[in-house]
Amino acid sequence: MAARKTLHKPATRQPASALLAWYDRAARDLPWRVGPAARAKGVRPDPYAVWLSEIMLQQTTVATVRLRFEAFLARWPDIEALAAAPVEDVLGEWAGLGYYARARNLHKCARVVAGEHGGKFPHSEEGLLALPGVGAYTAAAIAAIAFDAPAVVVDGNVERVVARLFAIETPLPGSKGEIRARAGELTPKERPGDFAQAMMDLGAGVCTPRRPKCLICPLAGFCEALKRGEAEAYPAKRPKAEKPTRKGAAFALFNSKGEVLLQRRDEKGLLGGMLGLPGTPWTKHLDTDVFAAAPARTDWSDAGAVRHTFTHFHLDLDVYAGEAGRKKCAIGEWLDPGAARLPTVMKKALERALAVRKRG
Ligand code: ADE
Ligand code: SF4
Repeated sequence: MAARKTLHKPATRQPASALLAWYDRAARDLPWRVGPAARAKGVRPDPYAVWLSEIMLQQTTVATVRLRFEAFLARWPDIEALAAAPVEDVLGEWAGLGYYARARNLHKCARVVAGEHGGKFPHSEEGLLALPGVGAYTAAAIAAIAFDAPAVVVDGNVERVVARLFAIETPLPGSKGEIRARAGELTPKERPGDFAQAMMDLGAGVCTPRRPKCLICPLAGFCEALKRGEAEAYPAKRPKAEKPTRKGAAFALFNSKGEVLLQRRDEKGLLGGMLGLPGTPWTKHLDTDVFAAAPARTDWSDAGAVRHTFTHFHLDLDVYAGEAGRKKCAIGEWLDPGAARLPTVMKKALERALAVRKRG
């Protein structure tokens, strides 16, 4: 059989070419970006502008940074200018861009680069990573975008795209290592900076969290999630932990006026400080003698059970109804069942008790 020419390149290189061809047509026009056309003509991005934009984008949307980036750059056009500015001025210009710690680090970083690196940003990821305010993602992004280093740039958008391309079944964050490895395989030696930005654009506009636009996606032919017809199912969601079930008993004791005995619950714990029917604690197994927790000795009728689901468990609450007569009972308040403001589970339990009391 004749060898097929298309197999000369590893298959994992093909998505990069398709993505870059799409980026050449559809790249977003962003003020900090050297677009693919200019890039092809030899225009190089200004590392200062790349760094500034990446710091701003750490905590703020592209839409907001778009509006603020140019004013910042006009005021401090290079790293020396920014390093020479009083920190108060930088904080003032940062207003509305999120935590001031970032702006402080931005200023600190400018002073380090201007003072210790002769005004030049390090080209390597490791060198960048040592700068104030520059984490792993940002170091990779700057290395790729500013210096065209084949750094693996993985942000939330890229994680989603890669998880879908390879239909990665492990949910995040457990899949981070696998996603990074796959992203590394995808990253081309040619134009890694444009590739990184293309992945960001794809994640932002095409491979969106909801309703990804697979019909117009340049990677559709390579996408395992799409092949399975389950694009939106990736990244895989962590299965919700099975909720445990707890059990308890609650006692609705009525007086001759038809009022019910309610107790205020302990301030600490679930439904803290709210009114409720007296009863047992809610535990995995019910005590054998639930009546020890009853507010009075009387002839309790079994009113059945109510189920209620809290955030972290289901509760099966056995409800008993009884008449106080003249008997003494534990401390509480007698309240009109219709007037008491009760948490839902207690409302359900009281309704059960009232239904049985009417019948009885
Ligand atoms: N989000 C973070 N960095 C970005 C960049 N360089 N371009 C577009 N979106 C981004
Ligand atoms: Fe995302 Fe759909 Fe493209 Fe796959 S085909 S990468 S799911 S947009």
